Amino acid sequence: MPATVIVGAQWGDEGKGKIVDLLAQNSDVVCRYNGGPNAGHTIQVDGETFKLRHLPAGIVSEKECVIGAGCVVDPEELVAELDDLAGRGIAVDRVRLSGNAHVIMPWHRTIDQASERRLGKLRIGTTRRGIGPTYADKAFRVGIRVQDLFDPKILRQKIEVALAEKNLWLERVYGAEPLELEELAERCETCAQRLRPHIADTSLLVDRALREGKRILLEGAHGTLLDLDHGTYPFVTSSTTVAGGAAAGIGIGPTRIGAVVGVAKAYVTRVGEGPFPTEIEGPDQVRVRELGGEFGTVTGRERRCGWLDLVALRYATRVNGLTALALTKLDVLSAFDEVPVCLRYRLRDGTETDDFPAHQSDFHHCEPVYEVLPGWREPLEDCAELEDLPEAARRYVDFVEHMLDVEVSLVGTGADREQVLARGRGAALVR
Ligand code: IMP
Repeated sequence: MPATVIVGAQWGDEGKGKIVDLLAQNSDVVCRYNGGPNAGHTIQVDGETFKLRHLPAGIVSEKECVIGAGCVVDPEELVAELDDLAGRGIAVDRVRLSGNAHVIMPWHRTIDQASERRLGKLRIGTTRRGIGPTYADKAFRVGIRVQDLFDPKILRQKIEVALAEKNLWLERVYGAEPLELEELAERCETCAQRLRPHIADTSLLVDRALREGKRILLEGAHGTLLDLDHGTYPFVTSSTTVAGGAAAGIGIGPTRIGAVVGVAKAYVTRVGEGPFPTEIEGPDQVRVRELGGEFGTVTGRERRCGWLDLVALRYATRVNGLTALALTKLDVLSAFDEVPVCLRYRLRDGTETDDFPAHQSDFHHCEPVYEVLPGWREPLEDCAELEDLPEAARRYVDFVEHMLDVEVSLVGTGADREQVLARGRGAALVR
């Protein structure tokens, strides 16, 4: 049984948590392949709300959950997350953490925050959780990995080497307080004791599970347009978010992946800086934000809201090789007489394109070309089948499917796990 990847098809916050939670009901193992506590999932089950940072959404249904080598973890935050869930009666003993994942150290957070301050108007708008500096050290081969936490000698050696340089940066460049070796090592060791039972060779674990015919979900954090290589650089995160990264981030071959489900909102949101062609001007932006509860899970920041962008979504379909699409939060649009959808971009030279611009300047200056579809005002929460949707809502879904040439297999109509309508491939995924 090949693995299924769930990937965000926009700028993150597409509602992946809810889709993963739903598909997890029929899965045995749920794995995160990238990112760290910059990701935030909000999952609502039976009126109870769970907010996750590191853990894949399968944890709410107490599935075996893997945090793969492609992830970065903040040990103190991870311990707090595990303790919080355990305190609410969720069994967390089947959480598995790769020893190859990199550790976010306190200097990474300080440098992320100070660097954003220094950039001023040119800032990325990061979540300030230390993600970029941690992945940078990983690429520079001076990072600290989860497995280092369990060897006091190696841990102290690595922290000492790091501090010799980091403290200079902290004090002289960023005007921050220097960090102290022994205090840091002790904090790390306290977390290590708590995390020890969760450490596993996660690549081997997933390989075995696949051989045994278990159902595996590989959950990507963030979204396609935040991918380090294929997103809207530099306004991106520092990991591979696209589906191709799932194999590398977990440590399995790409031939083990059988399906890629993209998750997109029925509109678009973005947090942080950077170009956003379909960002709504005027009061409708506030309306979408309030109806959709579009405030960041991690930072609480207001999300910027826009109309659905099919140029960007077609790009996401291509770079991820989507085999199905989940369109979430369709109910939020139940408030407009008309709903614009972006079909093409008009470039500075007046030409129009339906391909996502390969050059950043073209993207920065493009104008959206909309088709305005009829809206609907009926609430959707009581629809049990796709056929129950108001006609205009059904046409909206069919239009997206037709324009992307990928099946819209799942449609979200409300916050709860049950409020997802399935058809075609989607029915098989949730069965
Ligand atoms: P970082 O990942 O904290 O370095 O932030 C880099 C960019 O990615 C910023 O624009 C963040 O707002 C954005 N970002 C990171 N994670 C998420 C996410 O899960 N949802 C939405 N945006 C995110």
